[in-house]
Amino acid sequence: MKQVIFDTDIGIDDAMALVFLHCAEDVELLAVTTAFGNASVENTTRNALYTKELFGMTAPVYQGAAGPLGVSLFDSYPDFVHGENGLGNIDVTVKSAQAEEASAAQAIVELVQNNPGEISIVAVGRMTNLADALERCPDLPKLVAEVIVMGGAFGFNGHRGNVSPVAEANIAGDPTAADKVFRSGLPLTIVGLDVTHETIMEREYFESLREQAGEVGEFVYAISRYYLEFHESHNGTYASPVHDPSAVAYLLRPDLYTTRDAIVRVALDGVGIGQTIWADPAVNYQTGEWNDIPPCRICIGVDDQAVLNLYRETLATGIR
Ligand code: BDR
Ligand code: CA
Repeated sequence: MKQVIFDTDIGIDDAMALVFLHCAEDVELLAVTTAFGNASVENTTRNALYTKELFGMTAPVYQGAAGPLGVSLFDSYPDFVHGENGLGNIDVTVKSAQAEEASAAQAIVELVQNNPGEISIVAVGRMTNLADALERCPDLPKLVAEVIVMGGAFGFNGHRGNVSPVAEANIAGDPTAADKVFRSGLPLTIVGLDVTHETIMEREYFESLREQAGEVGEFVYAISRYYLEFHESHNGTYASPVHDPSAVAYLLRPDLYTTRDAIVRVALDGVGIGQTIWADPAVNYQTGEWNDIPPCRICIGVDDQAVLNLYRETLATGIR
């Protein structure tokens, strides 16, 4: 059983990842920690509480960062992707669920310190809460079991940026935080656009979820309408890449991914702001920028059909 903290800017695909965690047999969800990103932190927290209430999840919700640590590529929220409320503009009225008093970063540190070597963090938004947690607890890298991040793009399989030619949204939204996290020595796996853009959910796939996965399939179907319309207007296909659920897929079945070791840094300003740059740990470069940085694992290949099957089967059989 994996004990998991889900750090998120809920978001349509974030909610799809959250129900994946909820339905997965081998997962105990310990906490949902929120941040700004796909919407304001007030909205992403409300979306977390709404999803928790809808499916009777027991994990507490902790609100986190309202803005980036450093300069960001963005000056507004992507309501054209996720809707004004962040969940495709479905009704997200929360009846009584409330966020906890502690902040997201406090909760991450306390949970990890109380369960050394046990906790997996799945982080699918800006890295701001994780960077804050590292600041509060520099020993975090030694205490956490694994950290799986959805973010970045390294150029494998021809995939580069989605918000600039080189930058992916989660990293571009707080490059300073991401660079701190990627250099920290956390046991990190990065699931970037290199693989999330290789895994595609089409119209028929969402229909099959609706048919086979009961209430949770209905929920994913409802929130995905807005997302699919955005993708259709953006690139002409009524289909979406699978971003945040891919981080959960890696947690459950790492064997479905091909990875390599890489030192990862982030461009902090200029035209390439938010670019994730990888270096081969075996090479000595003529600049100190790449020295003494512990490598991460980055995903460079995926069995996309197996990931899609895993998602559908987990939702169809796993609702508690
Ligand atoms: C990432 O950005 C957000 O819009 C999604 O939720 C995902 O985490 C994809 O670039
Ligand atoms: Ca996200």
